[in-house]
Amino acid sequence: MPTIDPTLAWAFARRIVPVVVIDDDATALPLADALLAGDLPVAEVTLRTPAALASIAAMATREDLLVGAGTVLNVAQASAAMDAGARFLVSPGLSRDVVVAARERGVPVIPGAVTPTEIMAALDLGLGLLKFFPASVYGGAAALTALGSVFRGVSFVPTGGVSAANLADYLAVPSVAAVGGSWMVPTSAIDSGDFDTITHLCATAVAQAAQN
Ligand code: 3PG
Repeated sequence: MPTIDPTLAWAFARRIVPVVVIDDDATALPLADALLAGDLPVAEVTLRTPAALASIAAMATREDLLVGAGTVLNVAQASAAMDAGARFLVSPGLSRDVVVAARERGVPVIPGAVTPTEIMAALDLGLGLLKFFPASVYGGAAALTALGSVFRGVSFVPTGGVSAANLADYLAVPSVAAVGGSWMVPTSAIDSGDFDTITHLCATAVAQAAQN
């Protein structure tokens, strides 16, 4: 069974991956500082805004933070994100071409898979760490528990609807390596420059996760 890339294992040690939407790349470095102050040295910058690639490039200058790209839908986006400095890629679904493109450059990739058939396709590609999205819609922690009993050795990163209120439920599932989410990095706080709130939310999430 595949193992988790050591780089990801380091960054995911806190078992929380902040999923960020950045509207203005000028906020990328202050956001990096806020994440680090909250003890979350990782950021998944979603490719949903025009500012995403410049934000990844800015954050990639911080050696103490692992920046990745999220919402990677195709090879062109994967290449652009890796060119910008993304050190891991996350996709909502499973694209063989994206997986191959990432591997060619030695960049770990976490594609999405929610059904047994999708998980088997991911296993065929040698993948052992999968995004489970949108987690709350596809059965939440109960679904992950059921899948984990069949797909032993596969680890999941549920995202979509994960929050401070249900974080413990997800982290209690043995197959859950980490959870992803935006609850500790609200776009409104990023846009308004309220980085103290982000640091507080991150620190709270890290403390919560440490109890599980
Ligand atoms: C993702 O890209 O993983 C999700 O948009 C994050 O979902 P959330 O905003 O519900 O945390």
